[in-house]
Amino acid sequence: MKTTISTSIKSKKGLLVIPVFKETIEKLPAVYPKLVKEFISQGYKNKDLKSAKGSTFSTYNLQKGLPEKFLVISLGSSKKVSLRTAKEMGGKIGKYAKGIKASEISLILPKEVASQSQYLLEGIMMSQYEEEKFKGKKKKSESYELKNLEIVAESKSKTLSEDLERAKIMSYGSEYVKDLVNAPSNIIDANYFAKEAKRIAKANKYKLKVITQKELKKMKWGALLAVNQGSKKEANCIALQYDGAKNKKAKSIIIVGKGMIFDTGGYNLKPTNHIETMQQDMAGGAVVLGVFEVLKKMKIKKNVIGIIPVAENLVSANAYRPSDVITSYSGQTIEITNTDAEGRLILADGLTYGTKFKPEAMITIATLTGAVAVATGDRYCGLIGNDRKLRRDLRRAGRQTDDLGWDLPIHRDFRKKMKSKVADLKNYDLGSGRYAGASKAAAFLEYFVEKNKWCHIDIGGTAFTEDPKDYQTKGATAQGLEMLVKYLENA
Ligand code: BES
Ligand code: ZN
Ligand code: ZN
Repeated sequence: MKTTISTSIKSKKGLLVIPVFKETIEKLPAVYPKLVKEFISQGYKNKDLKSAKGSTFSTYNLQKGLPEKFLVISLGSSKKVSLRTAKEMGGKIGKYAKGIKASEISLILPKEVASQSQYLLEGIMMSQYEEEKFKGKKKKSESYELKNLEIVAESKSKTLSEDLERAKIMSYGSEYVKDLVNAPSNIIDANYFAKEAKRIAKANKYKLKVITQKELKKMKWGALLAVNQGSKKEANCIALQYDGAKNKKAKSIIIVGKGMIFDTGGYNLKPTNHIETMQQDMAGGAVVLGVFEVLKKMKIKKNVIGIIPVAENLVSANAYRPSDVITSYSGQTIEITNTDAEGRLILADGLTYGTKFKPEAMITIATLTGAVAVATGDRYCGLIGNDRKLRRDLRRAGRQTDDLGWDLPIHRDFRKKMKSKVADLKNYDLGSGRYAGASKAAAFLEYFVEKNKWCHIDIGGTAFTEDPKDYQTKGATAQGLEMLVKYLENA
């Protein structure tokens, strides 16, 4: 998509998007062409245009010199332009353009949205996402692309160009994550992850370490290896390092993302209707790659280490079983009570590796439980951890980007329930079952964070959606990406 910024409408094709506010409908500024003003005031008088946020009306324009189609969209009150409004409205605009296959948009950007222009533009850009299709022959006629976006502002400003740049970076990052998460598991495997990490590290001059299966064995990553035992493919663990802080020696923020290539559940096999979308189980890992795709471009001033343990949870003669006792990288032994509670096992070893860097804080991000969706649906991810400020900072970053999170508790009884009679820990408490499933999964992880500040982001309910927002599509959402990048920016 090509983007330009101008102070008067240059495009003569495609769709002209005309946002209006309740307060200014009848006194629009000069960037709105006369014809548009007349059209709006007529529409308003005839009640075709309502002032309620999100209401739209559209028409063809037969006069030369302006785009062929007009879309008027009401943004409600100019006093209430939140970033969420901006992003949602951007989504609405983008979806409309997609619906009529307009390959050019000219967007009038009123000064009242200036502070949220990044999010309005992100909304438009993110709404254009199309899941990659793997059809033998691509039908050309079906393919649509938004080619040009002209932003018509009352005046040019450095902030607007910066906002546009940031919107582009973040929507690129989000597209990158969604492609990884949507793609099937025979394509996105541990090797693919390693290759992508190499490409990203090279392009941005990050440090990279890919710990191979052989090395993992030597280092005794018993939990990660147990989970991958049933797979013919080798596991690995990726560690990316970005030194963005002025003080290169400053402690790092560590982000550990679950890279479960596919989760069948293992011998506790997932049933039909639960297993089909389990290619999404590496969404946490994909978000970590996404973060590193954008960290440098977004000029984040922090030292950040991304750790992605990658494995595959399959059924085979070699697979681990319920009742097995394994020894994790930390040395703590774990009784396997349910092979479907595998995410916490690979994260456990990833966390232990993280503690060796003596970090400022540790964050885990994972499609860890289905239980979190029961609590917070597909609008909020769960935030669970041992540090109130870290949780609050992540929640705030989520609010600032409409990538929302909500706190869930860890009661000390949940910690007790993860203790085993035959080993130090067990990976699932059969006694209390699914009760507080997200919290107990986090309580298990807590045994591996040592004394560090830590917060877990459970995206089990949000990484994939069947009910997309206007700027989303069905399937992968890239949730967590914007929250984490904003958090690092604020930190
Ligand atoms: N990957 C799943 C969690 C999940 C479920 C993510 C649905 C996204 C959508 C995880 O490994 C899992 O199987 N969790 C179980 C845990 C239980 C067996 C202790 C769950 O939450 O049901
Ligand atoms: Zn599972
Ligand atoms: Zn899983």
